[in-house]
Amino acid sequence: MRVLPENARVLFTEEQVDAQVRRVAAGINERYRSGGVKLIGVLKGSVFFLTALSRYLEVPVRVDFLAISSFSTRRGAPGVVRIEKDLDEPIEGEDVLVVEDIVDTGLTLRYLLRTLAGRGPNSLGICTLLDRAARRLVEVPVEYRCFEIGDHFVVGCGLDYKQLYRNLRCVAVIDSPGQESSDSD
Ligand code: IMP
Ligand code: MG
Repeated sequence: MRVLPENARVLFTEEQVDAQVRRVAAGINERYRSGGVKLIGVLKGSVFFLTALSRYLEVPVRVDFLAISSFSTRRGAPGVVRIEKDLDEPIEGEDVLVVEDIVDTGLTLRYLLRTLAGRGPNSLGICTLLDRAARRLVEVPVEYRCFEIGDHFVVGCGLDYKQLYRNLRCVAVIDSPGQESSDSD
């Protein structure tokens, strides 16, 4: 069985991804040198990037996760976001980085940032593997990004198409995927 579907092509190789993850990690090491950082992963897509990133971090790292469901579809109307699984620990007084696989419309992150900001963190930033800024509907401050991408549907490094391909080490474009991944992350 082929790992990649026939209509897919590699956008970023494993080596390119690794180089960018290292670059971003170096910036985080510098910024959070004094007190460390709490990484908040948005399940499930960000798990792969968060893991890769954290291995290059040389400051104290805490990790927590949340899961959301969003009823927006890539081509459809922006919808509602809901927290399905909340963080295990409070974030009050902490330096927090929300880790994402991709920032697209920004709607998910805007909701998350508002919710998390209300819990009194010392600082709150965004770190994403991919930034598809061309499709942004609402502005969100992205402090760290590995790659900007154009208007392609991508899989790999945590991103799925119908729950497949998250485990790919590269980022690949799927031409005309048909239908957007319908799940939350
Ligand atoms: P948004 O920024 O609120 O539009 O939500 C972005 C979320 O949609 C991401 O966290 C992904 O789970 C999903 N998503 C957006 N674009 C893609 C893609 O190209 N491939 C796979 N999932 C995507
Ligand atoms: Mg996601």
